[in-house]
Amino acid sequence: MPYGSRLAATMNRRLGRECVYTPSARLALYLALRHWCRPGARVLMSPVTDDVILFVVLAAGLRPVQAPVSPADGNIDPAAVSEATWRGVDAVLTSNLYGIPDRVVELRARCDELGIPLIEDAAHAIGTDVAGRPIGTFGKAAAFSLSKHAAAMAGGFLAVEDAATRQELELLRDELLTPRRLHTDLTTTLRPLARSAVRSLHLVRPVWRTLQRLGLLERDAFRMALHAPRLADCAREAPSLTAYEPWVRVDLHGFRSRHGALVRGQLELRMARLDAGLARRRIGVSLLSATTWASPALHVPASAPDGPPPLFRAPLLVHDRDALIERLVHHGVVAGYVYDPPLDDYAGPEFVEPSPDPTAARWFASHVLPADPLQAREIINALTRERARPAALEQQDPQLNDRRSAPR
Ligand SMILES: Cc1ncc(COP(=O)(O)O)c(C=O)c1O
Repeated sequence: MPYGSRLAATMNRRLGRECVYTPSARLALYLALRHWCRPGARVLMSPVTDDVILFVVLAAGLRPVQAPVSPADGNIDPAAVSEATWRGVDAVLTSNLYGIPDRVVELRARCDELGIPLIEDAAHAIGTDVAGRPIGTFGKAAAFSLSKHAAAMAGGFLAVEDAATRQELELLRDELLTPRRLHTDLTTTLRPLARSAVRSLHLVRPVWRTLQRLGLLERDAFRMALHAPRLADCAREAPSLTAYEPWVRVDLHGFRSRHGALVRGQLELRMARLDAGLARRRIGVSLLSATTWASPALHVPASAPDGPPPLFRAPLLVHDRDALIERLVHHGVVAGYVYDPPLDDYAGPEFVEPSPDPTAARWFASHVLPADPLQAREIINALTRERARPAALEQQDPQLNDRRSAPR
């Protein structure tokens, strides 16, 4: 039996696609990029995503091409991508940021027309559907993360179209896994439990401040330090996961560890509880969507059969976002998953091809407050007490109303 096949079978049943189990979504993405893109290929992607993903693309020996994005959700705006850019890319990588779906129908059609692969980063989007079809079933491959909705701090999947491709990717995965270590398995099992304990004991604020003071967080700012000269040196070795490991492993050092039965057993339990968690997320998203801070991306048509999607985070748009994030810590709310500045401003043209129009990405990245739907009530109370002001998207993008009605 291939490694992790019980977990993979569970995901296969959810999605209706063949799945490869991986210890993380980042490893799943690396496998997909290595399989479908030759070294030197150019990958169209949103600049508003986790820096780890940028380093995965670089590790695969590829050139990240930054796309114009929608200012309502930070995902690629296909209508704003120029014909010249479309003709010059070899693959498209979505991000489904915070669980809000990319315009996958349009992207898939474009990719088919150009004969290039669509790869879905579905790490934030377990449970998001587009026209009744799950995100993760539109592309050649899709990466999922159990560190997000299932809060497992380990585990992921690569979903693919057929069994033959799955088998090839299982072999590639096995070559990249590092041997199992009991110590890593124990810490991987205990970390999510420690995190829930901190939450339920209302210790978020003191623990967060202590970690910050002790320098135990891997990022001083929203982005990790780039270390440009060292990063430039690595290009000689690309494609190579090992060369880029100091960047790719940030926040998840076991991203390529062959976890044992202890970790995988815990992941199976979390997968079994996933639907209950998704239902709680829908309730939180519904509460957050009704606030004045909600991004228009949260406005679900009243006719949507399942109501709001079970997002990983609900994008709120607020004035003076950075100061607000600091103040929210006093209310026990630590807002993570902020991807600011956009990747082209963060890494520069040496490492990424800049977007021809970075305005929307800059605006979205600097105003978005990703709200955890499981903490919706605390967040709404805290924002009300802080008198947080909504950021007016219409002023930044007068054409938004036209785009809002465009199909996804
Ligand atoms: C958008 C996005 N994609 C992929 C990943 C990688 O997920 P994992 O931590 O399971 O490797 C992350 C991690 O936070 C992410 O934010």
